[in-house]
Amino acid sequence: MDIFIDSADLDEIRDASAMGLVDGVTTNPSLIAKVGRSRDEVIHDIVEVVDGPISAEVIATDTAGILAEGRAVAAIHENIVVKVPLIADGLKAVRTFTEEGIKTNVTLCFSATQAMLAAKAGATYISPFIGRIDDVSGEGMELIQEIVAIYENYGYGTKVLAASVRHPLHVKQAALVGAHVATIPHKVIHQLLKHPLTDIGLDKFLADAAKQGQ
Ligand code: G3P
Repeated sequence: MDIFIDSADLDEIRDASAMGLVDGVTTNPSLIAKVGRSRDEVIHDIVEVVDGPISAEVIATDTAGILAEGRAVAAIHENIVVKVPLIADGLKAVRTFTEEGIKTNVTLCFSATQAMLAAKAGATYISPFIGRIDDVSGEGMELIQEIVAIYENYGYGTKVLAASVRHPLHVKQAALVGAHVATIPHKVIHQLLKHPLTDIGLDKFLADAAKQGQ
């Protein structure tokens, strides 16, 4: 499974990249606002750090506006993936982007039927939001399972990008059900690393080595 970091914070992206585990980056308007810089400034910096798909989300919600904004942001770098909300005008724009060879990430997906339409529009990636479904007492991982199954049934080429990941279990479950990608917040990436028995074992090794004056 590919791992993307869900962040617009260059320090977070550099930290995760240094471990060699970042295959791409996803951003969104809220993550961009959090770092207090413009989307395009952030994207220009990210493409210098990560050599992989970089999702940059449009603000426009009408087809013409999405196309204009998406073409401009795609021109920043060949790795840019234009992130488009799952609305009718968004899918119309995705159809055109697909014909123009511009990669797309259709976001804010909360149902399998939405995901099916995004695939038919030619989306490169679909972003189902696991955590936000869980947050309202739904079963976010069931959505991932349903989309993976439907895409396999009909041979859709769209990649399932598990998003709105809240904890390591989301990552494990997404991998088990066959998501192509998980986009993971920096904090969760470090949680994936941690295990108390690793820390306990390392402490014991170091203590025993110290006893021998090593
Ligand atoms: O960036 C898309 C998605 O991963 C954001 O999820 O729910 O943490 O805002 P959330």
